[in-house]
Amino acid sequence: MMKCFTIFKDKSKSRERKSAPELSNQRKSDNLDSRRVSKSTGSASSPRSIKEMYKEREQNLRVFSVPELREATKNFNRLLKIGEGGFGSVYKGTIMPPNGQGDSTVVAIKKLNTQGLQGHKQWVAEVQFLGVLDHPNLVKLLGYCAWDGERGIYRLLVYEYMPNKSLEDHLFNRSMPTVPWTTRLRIILGAAQGMAYLHEGVEVQVIYRDFKSSNVILDKDFNAKLSDFGLAREGPTGDRSHVSTAPVGTRGYAAPEYVETGHLTIKSDIWGFGVVLYEILTGRRTLERNLPVMEQKLLDWVKHFPADSKRFYMIMDPRLQNQYSQTAARRIAKLADSCLNKNPKDRPAMSEVVEILKQAIQDSEEGTSSHVRSPQSSRTHLSASDKQIKVINAGRDMARAVQS
Ligand SMILES: Nc1ncnc2c1ncn2[C@@H]1O[C@H](COP(=O)(O)OP(=O)(O)OP(=O)(O)O)[C@@H](O)[C@H]1O
Ligand SMILES: [Mg+2]
Repeated sequence: MMKCFTIFKDKSKSRERKSAPELSNQRKSDNLDSRRVSKSTGSASSPRSIKEMYKEREQNLRVFSVPELREATKNFNRLLKIGEGGFGSVYKGTIMPPNGQGDSTVVAIKKLNTQGLQGHKQWVAEVQFLGVLDHPNLVKLLGYCAWDGERGIYRLLVYEYMPNKSLEDHLFNRSMPTVPWTTRLRIILGAAQGMAYLHEGVEVQVIYRDFKSSNVILDKDFNAKLSDFGLAREGPTGDRSHVSTAPVGTRGYAAPEYVETGHLTIKSDIWGFGVVLYEILTGRRTLERNLPVMEQKLLDWVKHFPADSKRFYMIMDPRLQNQYSQTAARRIAKLADSCLNKNPKDRPAMSEVVEILKQAIQDSEEGTSSHVRSPQSSRTHLSASDKQIKVINAGRDMARAVQS
């Protein structure tokens, strides 16, 4: 698992705690269903900050107590643990409605490691961003818990439960069924739509800062949702071209100019998106220590197989067993290359990425015989559309296999 890293120590620690929202431990509202507003119709001249927007909407989040979440997770039973990241553990849990009446809800509960202020800062960011943002391709935050007790500090987050794990699990965990080509494209399109909303669909620009395959999680129908907003930042406003921060993120996904200068823009997110596009094509992680040295860094390795060359198909994930549209695959590789432009200004906008991914899905669904590589030889008896149907069926089989 690829963990987050901090390259430089954050120097503004004492201010950070003050910038926390006034999150009270009292239950603010029992109404979890009230719609969250996603795009303001307010004055364009003075966009509100996420913190201001959060103040208006915080009552949409439920405030949980520590005993409630202990009960939900059978005292954080390790058998209910479903994941572990750089900042804490994730448990599957069951919560009751606030008034105790009615059906229980299955949720995912993230318990942050709370040594130091870093965890607290990330928890605050996650609550504020996910308390404000609302899009089908972002994970829904249902509530939170903050408790500073004598026996320790608790920072927890309660999300909708996503039964199909992460894109990382599906691409790299050999015990999982192979994700078919069109499913991969649909997943990455969903993730792109989530990012396009962050970059272009909110009153303030939101820089996600941690785009990677483990942060793309999947619902029961394999719809992709972005998770983990602990590192998200508001984009630059006014005449400023970038935000300056201590570079944080995950090795193998962070844009080079951001790592070198700490200058953050939405174009840093586009780089990470390009990396994940290559992970989807190749079925290889961005950094893979178990491979020969030449192949350890995915971006260096794929350079030897340009999208326009005859050798291109050699990078394709062997687990796809040649069941993919070549036209679409080349289109995706070219898109990845444009996302991975050294010059951030030459990288596409997220809305352009979304359009190209839609075209790639169309290429794959049209599938003429020259598009789909035959598993055995060119003398295959299956027509391209037959193969396409096979691919779609394989997708359904996989969904069933994973859900059962
Ligand atoms: N809402 C959710 N529903 C179901 N499972 C989830 C949910 N959120 C996270 N998970 C699971 O928990 C795993 C760990 O998530 P987490 O974000 O803590 O770590 P990570 O993304 O692997 O690493 P990092 O901490 O660097 O982001 C995820 O990969 C996913 O499988
Ligand atoms: Mg994560």
